[in-house]
Formats: sequence, C-alpha cells, structure tokens
Amino acid sequence: MVIKKVGVIGCGLMGHGIAQVAAQAGFEVIVRESAQEPLDKGLGRIGKSLNKLVEKEKLTREVADASLARLTGTLELADLADCDLVVEAIIEDLAIKSDLYANLGKLCKPETIFATNTSSFPVAEMGAASGRPANMVGLHFFNPVQLMKLVEVVRTPETDEAVYAEAKAFGESVGKVPVAASDTPGFVVNRLLVPYMADAMRMVERGDSTPADVDAGMSLGCGYPMGPFTLTDYVGLDTTLSILEGWHERFPEDPTFVPPQILKDKVAAGKLGRKTGEGFFKWEGDKRA
Ligand code: 3HC
Repeated sequence: MVIKKVGVIGCGLMGHGIAQVAAQAGFEVIVRESAQEPLDKGLGRIGKSLNKLVEKEKLTREVADASLARLTGTLELADLADCDLVVEAIIEDLAIKSDLYANLGKLCKPETIFATNTSSFPVAEMGAASGRPANMVGLHFFNPVQLMKLVEVVRTPETDEAVYAEAKAFGESVGKVPVAASDTPGFVVNRLLVPYMADAMRMVERGDSTPADVDAGMSLGCGYPMGPFTLTDYVGLDTTLSILEGWHERFPEDPTFVPPQILKDKVAAGKLGRKTGEGFFKWEGDKRA
C-alpha cells in the first residue's frame, strides 16, 4: 500500500471513529476540525472509546496508547497537504463539501486520494469540485465505526482503478469488509435502510403502530440489533432528514424519498435523537432510558 499518512476532516460522530480505526491500524493520522471545541470533544471521544475497548479486552493498553500517539489534531487544512489519503466526514451539505474539495485540490500533493464519507451525495460532484476526479472515491463507514464491520467503497465513472484498489485495501487494513458500490443515491445500504426507516415513521403517522412496537417487531421478529426508531435516534434525526430531503429534492417523483412529517416536526423541536437526549425515545447517555 502507498497509503501511510491519513488525514481525516471532521471529528464528529463518524470522523472520530474513522480517525480512531486508522490510528489503531497503524496509520499516521491527522484529524482536522474547524474549531478547538469540536476537536477536543472528538479527541476525547476517541480516548473514551479506546478505554472501553481496553476494558472489554478487545485491545491492549499498549495498542491503545500507541494508537493515540499516532493521532494529532489540527485546525489548519494545510496540515493535510502531504497526506496520502484524506477522508472527509464533515456536515452533509454539498455546497460546503464542494468548497472544501476545491481547497483540497489546490493544496494537497498530486497523488493524494480523496475519499468522502457522504451518506447520500454524488461522489462525482465532489471529485469535479476538487479538480482531480480520478483521485476521488467514496469510503462510507457505518456508525459506530469502531464496531461496524462494513465499508462501502464507491467508484464514480472517473475514478482511477488504482485509486479504487488502494482505497479498498485501506478499508480492509482498518478491519472492515469492503463492498463495491456505484455512485447512486444511498449506495447499497442507505438506499435500502433510509426508506425503511421512513416507512416505519409513516406507519406510526397513520396510527397503525407505535415506535416501541415497531422496534420490538423488527428486533425480535427479524433479529435486527436495533429497530428503525432506535436506529434513527442512534444515527440522528437531523441526519436522516437531511438525507431524505436531499434525495427528495433531486428525485421528487420517488415516493420512498418523501420526508415524513413526524420526522420534520421532531427535528424542528430539537429532538435529534441520542445526541440531544431525546428523539423517538428518551436517552441517558449512550443508552435508551
Ligand atoms: N467504541 C467502543 N465501544 C463501544 C462503542 C464505541 N464507539 N460503542 C459501543 N461500545 C460498547 C458499548 O459501550 C458496550 O459496552 P458495555 O457492554 O460495557 O456497555 C459494547 O460496545 C456493546 O454495546 P451494546 O451493549 O450496546 O451491545 P450491542 O451488542 O447492541 O452492540 C451495536 C452495539 C454494535 C451498536 C449494535 O446495537 C448494532 O449493531 N446496532 C445497529 C447499528 C447500525 O445499524 N448502524 C448503522 C447505522 S446506518 C449508518 O451508519 C449509515 C449512515 O450513513 C446513516
């Protein structure tokens, strides 16, 4: 592999996990946030997660400490200029992402691979914004990144085959099983998962069931680790809404992409799920109350 130094942009829900698994796998990692507070919060989360893994005997203290030592934080995008791979996990806003890729295209070395963790936007548009479409892939991880085994590796028609192979090898080296995905809305998993979550909300809107009963049904009847409402709380209601809104705007004729009113209402009320202590359910820290 040519990838040695990895830049991660965004140290939030997904970015901190991506930075952590890369550092655990032995890569030198530099993680960039836009302000000191989210950077400190994200690095703190990595520390807590590593401690948890040590506590559960999934990692030794030595490996956890060595992982932390391979990780540095920065507020400067220019510090990522010499990275072999940059994984972007910032807010799901295409205009903001495009601006970022335009800057990365100007400052990174020519061979840097650009990988977006977007859940729902066209990877090709970010490749075009960077001015280096052949170097652009999607690397879509799943939450919590530290525990979920999948990474979708997304190729656009412009992605160079060697770049794709390198990105896939990176996914494997951080302990994930890569699946190939085309640059279509939601790739493989979210294309199935998000409409299913929205359908569950429509079922409750119609008064046909309750979030608790739907979740019990899918957990106990199908063996899903979380029912759709717990999962929406876990992922974030704002994230789920922004995915649906983005698709609905681009594909207004598809009824499966229509954002349910109940979801819009909860987001407007600030009930964003686990991270705000309430979504469809109430939460105490990481556990449902
Ligand atoms: N780092 C380290 N440890 C962690 C952790 C993390 N990030 N997150 C959880 N753990 C720990 C927990 O603290 C817990 O420890 P404890 O036993 O001491 O309390 C342990 O891992 C196991 O957690 P749980 O007790 O909650 O047990 P589970 O067996 O339920 O495992 C789970 C948790 C893996 C999250 C499981 O519930 C699951 O698979 N849920 C479904 C998640 C899912 O579907 N994710 C995909 C979301 S979609 C997505 O991400 C795409 C995006 O684009 C929208």
